Amino acid sequence: MRHLVAALLACVLHCPALAADPPQVVDVQLAGQPATAARDSALMAPLQNVYGRSHLSLNGRWSYIIDPYENGYYDYRRQAFDASKSGKGGFYDDRKPKDKGDWVEYDFERAPTMKIPGDWNSQAEKLQLYEGTVWLRQVFEADPKPGRHYVLYFGAVNYEAHVYLNGKKLGMHKGGFTPFQFDVSGKLAKGRNVVVVKADNTRRQDEIPTVNTDWWNYGGITRDVLLAEMPATYIADYKLQLAKGDARHIEGFVQMAGSGKAQQVTVAIPEAGIKASVRLDANGRAAIKLPVKKLDYWSPEKPRLYTVELMAGEDRVVDRIGFRTIETRGQDILLNGKPVFLRGISLHEENPLIPGRLRGQGDMRMLLQWAKELNCNFVRLAHYPHSEEMTRLADEMGLMVWAEVPVYWTISWTNPATLANAGTQLTDMIVRDKNRASVVVWSVGNETPISAPRNAFMGSLVRTARALDDTRLVAAALEIHRTGRDITINDPLASEIDLASFNEYAGWYWASNAEMLDFRFDIRLDKPVVITEFGADALGGYHADADTRWSEEYQDRLYQNQFRMLAGIPGLRGMTPWVLADFRSPRRQHPYFQDFWNRKGLISDDGKKKQAFWTLKKHYDEVQRRYEN
Ligand code: GCU
Repeated sequence: MRHLVAALLACVLHCPALAADPPQVVDVQLAGQPATAARDSALMAPLQNVYGRSHLSLNGRWSYIIDPYENGYYDYRRQAFDASKSGKGGFYDDRKPKDKGDWVEYDFERAPTMKIPGDWNSQAEKLQLYEGTVWLRQVFEADPKPGRHYVLYFGAVNYEAHVYLNGKKLGMHKGGFTPFQFDVSGKLAKGRNVVVVKADNTRRQDEIPTVNTDWWNYGGITRDVLLAEMPATYIADYKLQLAKGDARHIEGFVQMAGSGKAQQVTVAIPEAGIKASVRLDANGRAAIKLPVKKLDYWSPEKPRLYTVELMAGEDRVVDRIGFRTIETRGQDILLNGKPVFLRGISLHEENPLIPGRLRGQGDMRMLLQWAKELNCNFVRLAHYPHSEEMTRLADEMGLMVWAEVPVYWTISWTNPATLANAGTQLTDMIVRDKNRASVVVWSVGNETPISAPRNAFMGSLVRTARALDDTRLVAAALEIHRTGRDITINDPLASEIDLASFNEYAGWYWASNAEMLDFRFDIRLDKPVVITEFGADALGGYHADADTRWSEEYQDRLYQNQFRMLAGIPGLRGMTPWVLADFRSPRRQHPYFQDFWNRKGLISDDGKKKQAFWTLKKHYDEVQRRYEN
């Protein structure tokens, strides 16, 4: 058993050996992928199931340097070091001081360290509100072997990442919540290797998201960093899901990459009695269509996952996949052909108890367990793609997922680069999670203000989602139109998506608890209605009467009023109230009730359940009884 000893600052890991001098890699444009302009040319197309590959984790303590003026990227004439003739001179330059010049004004050896994965805001006092560049460095040992393929994978870096290996630039990625990877075959040194990341979380109008969001702008390497190893010819991507509207067939594709030409791919699902070999075409792609005899369909009540093995040439990758169908019929949502009510809750990727982005299974399982305690069968992972571990946990724990890209509020609708960026982030989210049974909705955005350019932009994203995956619902969180007491949806986008899904804040941002029961909804769409947000702020532990805002009683009464008010919508088939737990936001400045926290959580920032938590649970118990009788 070949092994690799990786001396990561504080830990040593053993993995199959890594090798160098691999063959020319075929540029894999994954099947069904519209070319996306925002992807840096050096980036590979997303690798499917990176956790199922032999990999070395580069997680651990990384050294960091705070660089608000990007002094490590530009010279004093604002010219980029990595674009200069020598390409040297930036903070990524790993030469010895004697070679660089003893006057250099940075030193990773003496720099402080932070935990990766982990946002920087929650790891250093001076970085809590910081927006700008931080340089991060990890040193590791490698023993690359010829004929093997190597990929440097980042689960997410918020927001713009420039990545260097052994002093040479690999490329750049934009987007704070989707994975990216570089082909580093032939670029790994035998022995000591140095990876340096310039991470910049500066908000900019033309980016996705834009400058104004109601969540903390956590910067840095917020998810895993892995060095994956594959054979020279390897399985780059695959999709295996039940065919749209046909629960008797598993359909999809397998896409190879690498130098060689494997002849065929074998797909085996032993517990389902399936094993089939399919010839690969000249592009290393095989269409898959497998009849299923007996299959336990995935559902929240019975989240059955199957071990799926894919073998081609020297490569073998194993995944855990659930199989189910999701569709709408008129105003019903059908899971495996049966009407279902989406008993949901919205949540951010943030642990209220430990400052910062979720770090790993512990945090994630805690949040999803709280959702299960609410008797949820559905979670809205707002407002951006959460981690792959989160959707894999939802697969395992039995929670359907609304997945969303951060096309949020006032985006630059007329900027083609902004649209390409949004398309890339949507594509990468769908490519990553297309085998996750839990994901039932792809959402292309939240509360985007209606205009002709916005309608065109959002319509393009809907088409991109449908082109990539016709087996799931496509939606968005729309805004309502209110005249007096009458509430309607007059958003042209509503006709292009599968759900009448919208946010409404009756009783909080408009009207009070006492007035809200007068509102009437008139939703003239023959599609399922899902309320993607309603809620009220409540400071945990602050008690008063039900007419006193910010009290737990006010929030609780609002939930009771919402259930009564929404009962008037004949096509109501789901809801994801805002929000599971209090979360940090720079837009929430009330010094006593908020203190940079959005308090609409049903759980407070110290993990205590507010009164409304139990009211929602009771309501979901009643809904469940209604749907099961
Ligand atoms: C908006 C938005 C959320 C925000 C919430 C609120 O609808 O979608 O991101 O946090 O309302 O105002 O609390």
